[in-house]
Amino acid sequence: MKQIKAQIPKIFKPLLTVKKRIKLCYGGRAGGKSYAYADSLLFLGRMKKLFIVCLREIQSSIKDSVYKLLSDRISYYGLTDYKVFDTKIENKMTGTVFTFKGLRDQDPQKIKSLEGADIAWIEEAQTITKKSWDILEPTIRKPDSEIWITMNRQEENDPIWVALATQPDNKTWIQKVNYTDNPFCPQEMIDLAQRCLEKTPQDYAHIWLGEPMTQGNSKLISSILVQKALNMPLFDTTGPLIIGLDIARFGDDETVFCFRRGRLCIRFETYRKKDTVEVANITTHMIKTFHPERIFLDIGGQGAGVYDILKDRGFRRIVRGVYFGEKAISSDRYVNRRAEMWDHVRLWLSETASVSLPKDDTYILGDLTCVNKKYDKLGRLQLEEKDSIKRRLGRSPDRGDALALTFAEPVFETQSEDISSFRLDDLFAQPHRQTGSAW
Ligand SMILES: Nc1ncnc2c1ncn2[C@@H]1O[C@H](COP(=O)(O)OP(=O)(O)OP(=O)(O)O)[C@@H](O)[C@H]1O
Ligand SMILES: [Mg+2]
Repeated sequence: MKQIKAQIPKIFKPLLTVKKRIKLCYGGRAGGKSYAYADSLLFLGRMKKLFIVCLREIQSSIKDSVYKLLSDRISYYGLTDYKVFDTKIENKMTGTVFTFKGLRDQDPQKIKSLEGADIAWIEEAQTITKKSWDILEPTIRKPDSEIWITMNRQEENDPIWVALATQPDNKTWIQKVNYTDNPFCPQEMIDLAQRCLEKTPQDYAHIWLGEPMTQGNSKLISSILVQKALNMPLFDTTGPLIIGLDIARFGDDETVFCFRRGRLCIRFETYRKKDTVEVANITTHMIKTFHPERIFLDIGGQGAGVYDILKDRGFRRIVRGVYFGEKAISSDRYVNRRAEMWDHVRLWLSETASVSLPKDDTYILGDLTCVNKKYDKLGRLQLEEKDSIKRRLGRSPDRGDALALTFAEPVFETQSEDISSFRLDDLFAQPHRQTGSAW
């Protein structure tokens, strides 16, 4: 067999040289964990016959697994002794086999197939549930078998962390690794980390230094920010009137109109059980009465029909359709439009100049503070899935979505009044309008 030198950073050396039941590496993005584990396993598998199972909590397709990384590393090193099949990888010389499984799919019968594993590698182990871990640990039972774990800590009490790392025994090797320890870290990742440190220092420790999120920073929007805006009596503001329209998807959800003008979120108007034409009629009425500069509406589901009717009625200039799931405008910072728009709500609430939310709305505090955030591999902001929010909140955060929609794109007034036509006295004589009647 061709002798090839593996390029594994020194910090990972114990993977190959120390005998431990548990080998756990954790840290922030781009620490080199996945590459080092993949390389180490490939090289061990060339030395003797091993049965290696690569696990994660959920694996809907093999594409979710480390199969691609292992295949890429085999090509990179030119390891012709490995053969890559559709669902497994085999070493023709030693008989080593890699297989790929999602733990969530393992019933008591299926999990038996893992009993002969020499090494189980759990990737992204922060997502492993206690139930999965409790089933897996006794299953990897072959004498001298090892469990290799890579994770980016999510919460203080990630189940695997609690089980293995809070009081590690002498059968456990634990190593923290960050991008600063990775001699191969690409310049783009170093730049992303630096940008994060400058722009959102509160997130840097979690994303790039591998610290768990604290209670305070797993939420996208803090209740302090929302409370401040709820108690802010702002009567008037400049800026175009924008309406965000979140259209009900299921029986229980509400169709919500949010009216915002600059720093003032004027009010929410909600409707239940309206069909496409009825929602289009209400919207038409609002356009004719309040003359908004723009209406952003969610065109996932029923919204698409409403959008078509409104365009057909000649409101093409005013109405814009938005898919929450579509690519973000700043796609280097946000996983999708939904994350981008919601983050604009957070930025709006954080502005030094005060912003105001309707004080008498009893739902908006819950809606805005219920959403948890996370980050993808590129450090881009991602929001908790809607179903998970709905389970926790007991409803969908429709008002939050409607407010977020008002931030879909920057809007500029097309017919702003020429200020030179006002006398100075006129400007001062304008009575302050009350919240809720700013149009
Ligand atoms: N041995 C290596 N040879 C070449 N490049 C490497 C090596 N190890 C790491 N890298 C580079 O560093 C990057 C980050 O490594 P890796 O994906 O293994 O980090 P990680 O700690 O698993 O990060 P994440 O938490 O983001 O998954 C890789 O995309 C690759 O570009
Ligand atoms: Mg990784």
